[in-house]
Amino acid sequence: MIDEKCKVVEHTDIGAGYRYLVLEAPQMAAELVPGQFVHVKVPALEASALRRPFSVFDAEDGKVTVLYKTVGRGTAALNAVQAGDTVNVMGPLGHGFPLKCDGEALLVGGGYGVAPLHFLAKRFVAAAGLPRPKLFIGGRTAADLLALDRFQKLGIEIFTATNDGSAGVKGLVTDPLDDILANFRNRGTKFELFACGPDPMLKAVALRATGTGSKGWISMDRHMVCGVGACYACIQKTVRGNSRCCIEGPVFAAADLVW
Ligand code: FES
Repeated sequence: MIDEKCKVVEHTDIGAGYRYLVLEAPQMAAELVPGQFVHVKVPALEASALRRPFSVFDAEDGKVTVLYKTVGRGTAALNAVQAGDTVNVMGPLGHGFPLKCDGEALLVGGGYGVAPLHFLAKRFVAAAGLPRPKLFIGGRTAADLLALDRFQKLGIEIFTATNDGSAGVKGLVTDPLDDILANFRNRGTKFELFACGPDPMLKAVALRATGTGSKGWISMDRHMVCGVGACYACIQKTVRGNSRCCIEGPVFAAADLVW
C-alpha cells in the first residue's frame, strides 16, 4: 500500500454534481486493480484527518482518475481542489474484480457505480484472451447515465435503461440484462456478471448469478471510515459472517453475500 502526496492534474465538473479528479500517481496507477479504491485526504479537512474513499475510474500512464459525486462535507470541500494542488492519497485498497472470465462478461452499473466498471472494461478490452464485455447502465433519468462517452470510446456494446424513459429502455437496468440472459440460456452461453451500483440493483444482479449457477462479482458500497480494517464501519453480511468491505471487499463473490 502506498501513502503519498499526489499532484492534481485535472479536476473536471461533468454536471449533475459529478466530477473527474485526475491525480499523478505513477506507482499507484501501476498497482491498482479494477474494483480497488483509494483514500483521499481532503485538504480543507486535513485537521480532521478523515479521508474519503473513492473507487477508481481509470489508472493509466501514471495517472489515477476517480469519478465522484458531491454528496456531503468532504466531497464539497474536495470541489475546491484545483489542478496543480497536491492531495494525500492512500491506496490501492481493498479487493478488486478478478481479471478473468469464463464466457461472456456482463458489466452492470448504476450511478457512480459505473466508475470501477469503466476501469474493468478497459482492462478487459486491452487484455488478450478476455471477452469484450457488454455494459448495462441504469439510472432514474438520462443525466444519471455517467461516462457514456468514455465507454463508447472502448467500442463495447452498451445497453441503457432509465426509470423515466429519457434514455434507453424505460424501466430497470435488469430489463435489457434479462433479455440477454434469456438469449444466453437458449443458446447455452456461459457468462459472468460484474456489478457496482445501488444495493437493490446489486441484489438483483447477484440473484441472477446465483440463480443461474453463474459467477457474479459484486462491488458493495458501504460507509468507509478508516479504509484499512480497523473501525468496522463497513460491515457486510456474508456466508462467513460479518466481513469488512474495505479489506475483504468491496468486491465479493455473489454466492458469498447474504442479503
Ligand atoms: Fe474501517 Fe472498513 S472502513 S474497517
